Amino acid sequence: MPLSSADLITRTADFVREKFLHEGSGHDWEHIRRVWQTARALAAETPGAEPLVTELAALLHDVADWKFHGGDEEAGPQAARAWLLSLDVAEPVIGHIETIIREISFKGLGVPTPMSTPEGELVQDADRLDAIGAIGVARAFAYGGHKGRPLHDPSVPPVAHSSFESYKTNAGPIINHFYEKLLYLRERLHTPAARRVAGQRQAFMESFLAQFLREWEGSDLPPA
Ligand code: ADP
Ligand code: NI
Repeated sequence: MPLSSADLITRTADFVREKFLHEGSGHDWEHIRRVWQTARALAAETPGAEPLVTELAALLHDVADWKFHGGDEEAGPQAARAWLLSLDVAEPVIGHIETIIREISFKGLGVPTPMSTPEGELVQDADRLDAIGAIGVARAFAYGGHKGRPLHDPSVPPVAHSSFESYKTNAGPIINHFYEKLLYLRERLHTPAARRVAGQRQAFMESFLAQFLREWEGSDLPPA
């Protein structure tokens, strides 16, 4: 007998939780859990989005990220397919989830990343909401720390990458990541629900950056 939607989701959550539990680069189970939770909340306000595809894609979106698989963009869709096949999920659902995983990543400021379906838009929005705000700031520093990057270097200007190849090989200081990506995620969100959530997160991130640069320059210090 095929598994129910609730069972497919629980089994997938258990599989992904187990796989990510010990990952320390900002790509951890708690990121997946938040994206899953956010996608569910956005779906509740977005008529027409199919909950099973939305939840499974949220759970599987980072399952084999290219950043940790030698740049292989097909590793994620393939790993998701293998897992879903093992659960006997119907082919159209598997194909849809593969497409979402293939399309979801940010690929550089100059590279549009449209999503083909409403479920894809929801999952991409949920993933991007987790890259901004206080959590977004924390994740950028966790990732940069994992890669051994400096916090900031004013002599290295940010780059508006116009190809995925150039974005992928980027190794600049962490603060540049805000100007190459994070500050621009809000305007690329698809759903009204996500845009509403993004307001406060964006404001926090901007005020964090302003304060960071004040402290870096010493412009908040008393005159010498
Ligand atoms: P998304 O899943 O939103 O496409 P990624 O998978 O590209 O995000 O990145 C995962 C996390 O690591 C995000 O919070 C992102 O901001 C952070 N990150 C990715 N690349 C960098 C970088 N070059 N410097 C700092 N943080 C980064
Ligand atoms: Ni993600």
